[in-house]
Amino acid sequence: MKLWNGRFGINSDSKTDMYNASISFDIKLLPYDVKASIAHVTTLKQANVLTSEESEILIIGLEKINEEYQNGQIEFFVEDEDVHMLIERLLTLKVGELGKKVHTGRSRNDQVATATRLYTIDKLHYLYDCLESWIDCLDQQSLRYLSDIMAGCTHLQAAQPITLGFWFDAYKQMFIRDLQKLENCLDSMNQCPLGSAALAGTSYPLDRYLTANILGFKQPTANSMDSVADRDYIADSLYICTLIGVHLSKISEELIIFNSQVYNYITLDDRYSTGSSIMPQKKNPDIAELARGKSARMIGNLTQLLTMIKGTPLAYNKDFQEDKESLFDSIENTTLALELFIPMIETAKFNTEK
Ligand code: ARG
Repeated sequence: MKLWNGRFGINSDSKTDMYNASISFDIKLLPYDVKASIAHVTTLKQANVLTSEESEILIIGLEKINEEYQNGQIEFFVEDEDVHMLIERLLTLKVGELGKKVHTGRSRNDQVATATRLYTIDKLHYLYDCLESWIDCLDQQSLRYLSDIMAGCTHLQAAQPITLGFWFDAYKQMFIRDLQKLENCLDSMNQCPLGSAALAGTSYPLDRYLTANILGFKQPTANSMDSVADRDYIADSLYICTLIGVHLSKISEELIIFNSQVYNYITLDDRYSTGSSIMPQKKNPDIAELARGKSARMIGNLTQLLTMIKGTPLAYNKDFQEDKESLFDSIENTTLALELFIPMIETAKFNTEK
């Protein structure tokens, strides 16, 4: 019995289930959906919709589900459809019919909006730290090579003398701008959509300030219809990831050129390059090449998301389920790239003689 099939006489076609399901990728939202569910249960208790005893049992059950997820013990099926329905099924298995009460006064529409926002905020904070470390790394290199002369180019032609330190500093400026954008983006998404329910709120007297507070948001969102339809914060996040990706692609292009035998400006450490089985003289700058290549996918992800949003009427549409794979992909790849670029640059040998 699905959460939504009260009015349906027969089960959906198995291919409908397959096409409809997001569980294979939105399972990543589980810890965030559990967190939001616990805040919701607390708000329901506060509104006297749940007794203290009921809310306590529900919270213990929800915490247990998260624990099992962290230990890799959660099994799910296409029929679960999405992470929200999976959590409710598991909760009902644990605590009985009471488990269904967790859905009082909410809809999957405000649930998914909240869980995705919590995921994004969490991952962007980590990305912020990585970006700061990367900027530090570029800063150290700019000081280290403060007086090592090299040719500055326009049109990739030697134009005026500069230093390698100056070159590093130019890249540092790009990433400082990205960091500022990230800060603004985190600030503007700091509002809690939970309590918006399907689109027009709920008749239960839920204190949305309390929910927002428990989840660490500055305030609740202002309009419930906008709240369940808003994917702007994902567009913002994807744009920033794309811009970081494009900046990494630019520096990668130069590192690839510098690493060629013709230039012989740098030697990359073995840990951050690969060789060729039949041409042992080669040392390929794969990380830089992949960063250049993956930036194309990030541009694609941003384009996909904007195109997905543009034709949708208010409020929630199932199209929005398509927001997650791009979001996860761009954030994960940007983070991993920064985590690799720091040691790759720190261990690279710059042939300052040349
Ligand atoms: N899996 C859905 C998503 O990611 C959850 C919301 C579904 N809501 C609905 N009323 N069908 O968007």
